Amino acid sequence: MPATLIDGKAVAARMTAEIADEAAAFQHATGIVPHLVAVLVGDDPASAVYVRNKQKACERAGLKSTLHRLPAETTEVDLLRTVERLNADSGVHGILVQLPLPKHIREQVILDAVVAQKDVDCFHPHNVGLLVQGRPRFLPCTPAGCQRLLAEYKIETAGAHAVVLGRSEIVGKPMAMLLIQRGAVADATVTMCHSRTRELASMVRQADILIAAIGKPRFVTADMVKPGAVVIDVGINREGDRLVGDVDFEPVSQIASAITPVPGGVGPMTIATLLRNTLTAAQLSAG
Ligand code: GUN
Repeated sequence: MPATLIDGKAVAARMTAEIADEAAAFQHATGIVPHLVAVLVGDDPASAVYVRNKQKACERAGLKSTLHRLPAETTEVDLLRTVERLNADSGVHGILVQLPLPKHIREQVILDAVVAQKDVDCFHPHNVGLLVQGRPRFLPCTPAGCQRLLAEYKIETAGAHAVVLGRSEIVGKPMAMLLIQRGAVADATVTMCHSRTRELASMVRQADILIAAIGKPRFVTADMVKPGAVVIDVGINREGDRLVGDVDFEPVSQIASAITPVPGGVGPMTIATLLRNTLTAAQLSAG
């Protein structure tokens, strides 16, 4: 395999150790232990695993984490009440409502209800606005994780053509926003592609840096990748009991210069950024 394997697990472990040191210093100075509350509604097994991984990561970084598990029949009003209680609790610094929510609950209503100062997912319109303006309060977890991988592997982004495949609120849109900002690990020329893009394969083939976040297993095939491109695979798709990304890993790794694996690439970086945001939220709350 000629491509360099981008080891997100190792980078996330280093980030977690950095955050642990900072959290310990913060606790020493203020007596405050940053506290993340995760809200999990229903019993989607994948969501339960993700939330457990986030809690374990909090433990490793010396952050407090609490899980609020609510039944699948929870009403929108009851979930709103839970969020409002957490908003008002000065002992809670970060609130994460795990998605997806059951169909009868409007996600937008719930996400908008999380007070912006505790919105460690960076979903609140106020936080998205700050991000667009290049003065973020919190970092969008998955996109910032991808950006940190580019930094760690010293991938030149300035003037590079980055293609973001997928236009979700959670990954595609904020990813493009980070890469077009002025500054380090940014200054890229960004093209956003999605399911309605014409000549999709030829657009993707122009990427120096490809961020694949389209949510379709092995969607990006070797013929869609420019030789020497850097490929960041955000996809987590289940194929039987195996996880695969949005990139057809084996053939693409013969063509790319660097590539993230699934699992062990972007996933751990999302969680590490969530820890960073939780520490930031606690620091902001302490003034
Ligand atoms: N479900 C899948 N990814 C995420 C995420 O980053 N945040 C939340 N809240 N839910 C998710």
